[in-house]
Amino acid sequence: MVKHQVLFSEERIAERVQQIGAQLNQDYAGKELDVICILKGSVIFAADLVRRITVPVRLHFLQISSYGDDVESSGTINLRFSSVTEDLVNRNVLVVEDILDTGITMDYLLKQLREENPASLRICVLLDKPSRRKIGVKADYVGFEIEDHFAIGYGLDYQELGRSLRYIAVLDPSEYEKGT
Ligand code: PRP
Repeated sequence: MVKHQVLFSEERIAERVQQIGAQLNQDYAGKELDVICILKGSVIFAADLVRRITVPVRLHFLQISSYGDDVESSGTINLRFSSVTEDLVNRNVLVVEDILDTGITMDYLLKQLREENPASLRICVLLDKPSRRKIGVKADYVGFEIEDHFAIGYGLDYQELGRSLRYIAVLDPSEYEKGT
């Protein structure tokens, strides 16, 4: 495994996911929720989060990618897969992402989803890196705000590895400085 240091333990993540779930239950009381899990990074967060939500949930998946195997966003968005076969008109849509970095991906997603005329459209991210923002996107629900670290674990990868770690960690910079 690549060198890394734990940033948020499994217990800390579980506690935060439970808190966000409670907030969602309050905010969407009496409503139904359409959760859109953005693959691949948010799959573990979304799986844990939806099980904390007590209002009725429909679960959808979208795969979108801008990073490839790089540590920096390429800035080019690719929509690779969508399980959204239903109409989102008048639905309460919650986009669940692992990380909000430059905001380029989320800005693209929001533009696409607004065209569906949902009743509401909100964003829930596990990690927020506000210092990296290039487009003014704000998340409605944030797990943890972090510095400009490359995070892995709990769904997040470095070159496709590390997603299955039970905690969130910071990748040691020596890993991506290798060969540069
Ligand atoms: C990551 C992450 C977001 C995006 C955020 O996806 O899941 O979708 O980058 O970056 P931005 O705010 O700078 O646009 P990635 O391309 O790594 O795909 P993955 O989730 O499949 O690992």
